[in-house]
Formats: sequence, C-alpha cells, structure tokens
Amino acid sequence: MAPPTLPNTAPIPSPPPSSVKELTNSTSLGSVPPQYAIRNPETTMDIEPIIEEEIPTVDFSLLTEGTPEQRSQVVRHLGKACEEWGCFMVVNHGIPERLMEAMLISLKEFFDQTEEEKGEYTGKHVMDPIRCGTSFNLTVEDVRYWRDYLKVFVHPIFYSPAKPPRFRETSKEYAESTRAMGMELLRGIWESLGLEEDDMTKALDLHSCFQILVCNIYPPCPQPELAIGLPAHSDHGLLTILLQNGVSGLQVKRRGSWVRVEPLPNSFLVNTGDHMEIVSNGRYKSVLHRAEVNSQSTRLSIASVVAPSLDTIVEPASQLVSDEHPMMFRGMRYGEYVEHQQANRLKTKSAMDPVRLHAK
Ligand code: OGA
Ligand code: NI
Repeated sequence: MAPPTLPNTAPIPSPPPSSVKELTNSTSLGSVPPQYAIRNPETTMDIEPIIEEEIPTVDFSLLTEGTPEQRSQVVRHLGKACEEWGCFMVVNHGIPERLMEAMLISLKEFFDQTEEEKGEYTGKHVMDPIRCGTSFNLTVEDVRYWRDYLKVFVHPIFYSPAKPPRFRETSKEYAESTRAMGMELLRGIWESLGLEEDDMTKALDLHSCFQILVCNIYPPCPQPELAIGLPAHSDHGLLTILLQNGVSGLQVKRRGSWVRVEPLPNSFLVNTGDHMEIVSNGRYKSVLHRAEVNSQSTRLSIASVVAPSLDTIVEPASQLVSDEHPMMFRGMRYGEYVEHQQANRLKTKSAMDPVRLHAK
C-alpha cells in the first residue's frame, strides 16, 4: 500500500504588501525588499550624470494680464522652454496657496486610510475613472517602484473617491483651476508654434478635454540609491502640471544628463507630454523625467494632466507638416493611446513607438 501522502508543509509565502505605505508602516525596514532594488548606483551615475542647471521660469500673470509686448515675450519664452527643455516652472499663477495646501492635505488623508478602505479602488482596469495602486502596473512589471498612486479622471466627467470627506470639493476646485491654467498655457504654446487657437481647440476637442489627477506618494526609503519612485518616462497628455509638497525628487532629462527640480514655494512644474510632441510634429518633444526617493521625508506629488478628448484621433497639426518637415506620427485615438501606455511597462518613450512613422 502506498504511504499516505504527507501534507505539504512548505510555508505559504505571504503575499507582497499591497502598497509601499503598508510595507513601510508595518515594519522598520533596514533595507529594501529585492524586487525594489533595481539600480546599481555605481554604474548608473556614470552613464547618466546629474547636473545643476536652472529650469526656465514662466510668469503666468504676464500671459493673462501683461501688455501685448509682455505677452509676446512670455509666448516666445514659453516656446523656447518647450523646445529646449520640455518643462518650466510657473509662478504668479493665481491659484490660491490655500487650495494647493488643501489638495495635498486631502491626498495625505486619502493615503492614510486603511488598505481595506482604499481597496475599493484597487485592482481596477486602467481605464477605470478611480484607480489606486502601487508601482506602475503590477500585471506586467517584474520589478517594483517605491511609489503608491491614486488616479482620478476629473474631466469631462468629474469623479472623486467618497472619502476623505473634503476630497471631492477640494479636488473639484483644484482640477478646474489647473485645467484653466493648462488651457491658458496651451494658448500661449499654440501661438509660439504659429497655430490658431480655434483650430487647435477644435482639432483636439478641448472643450471635452481629458484631464486626470495622478496623485503620488513616495514614503521614506531605507536605501534610496537602490530603489526608484518612478523610472524615466514621458507623460501621455499635452501638458502635465505638477504640484509637490516641498520635498524634492523629480529630475528631468536634458541633453543626456539629469537635472534636479527643486520645488519653488507656491509654484508648479509644467512639462510637455507625448501629445504635445505628436501635435507639434516633433517640434516640442515630450520630456523624459523620473522620481527619486529619499530616506528622510515622505514626498507627495499631484500631476494634473491636460489632454485631448479621449475620442479625438490626434495627428500632427497640418500647418507644421511640409516637404521639409514630413509627417512624423500617424493618428491614433487618444483613449487608445492612454490605454496602451497604462497597460504596458513604463519605459522611457516606448509608448510612442506605435505612432511613429519614422525610426528615431
Ligand atoms: C507622474 C510623474 C513625478 C513626480 O506622475 O507621471 O512623473 O515628481 N510624477 O511625482
Ligand atoms: Ni510623469
């Protein structure tokens, strides 16, 4: 008679924590778990040095309230920042500081909820209007990033998690203010490209523009040199308007080097997204950026992404296509682009490959 089979006594591996926040709350970590240790600080620093350079600053008030001369000067400056950097700091933007602070407080309260409370929004499809999670996309990643997120669609239909109590009213006002600012900046950018505002509003269906708030939390990390909050990537929209809680970590790539972004008080960092590159037929490229982590402080950031409507098939503006500047991208429905970008690994500008007409 065959011996009775022994019960399997191998320990059942406990599931990995569902968020970095949970991981750092539950234990005092001396080192990062192996799936987060994805960098070799000795080699990466040599290949891609970090340099100190000053990011261009745009005085928003001159765009809206300046004299015609001041406005055209800012428009030129905006164009130059988009062309040479793909990002700029915006000051004198008129968005109340109390709203920026309230938004960051609401976000902290959101992330401070229990995993069960946040669980209502986890494990969702990438096009679900409210989605919470960790890293970037666990279904396709074999490594993990030191970051938890909440992504909320806020336009053309406004969504909000039900809790914490003030999140809805604060995020509504915040979304409206940053969207208005984004539209004003876009007006200036179209002008810098020689494009008519009405044409662009129509071509991109900006009255129904897609807007999403991507909210990030980067808890303190015991080995910040080995882990990364977000790897080098570009954003999918036209412009991303970033609010940070005063803790630095963002870096932008410029001419092969990384430049640290020091958050100025009461300012936003605005960067160009893939659809700015597509619409401008490659004149204004989307900027590569990444988020580093640190061992001391929790970093919070909110990226308000302003984009074409989800149903628009986006193509380069015909005014920017000529024999000298052949069409660089094929049209794709914006919603399809977002879905494909979110469903794949976050890897430099690979999301643009399916729409490129010419090899890089
Ligand atoms: C993003 C992003 C940068 C940051 O959410 O796409 O790039 O500083 N965030 O958190
Ligand atoms: Ni980004």
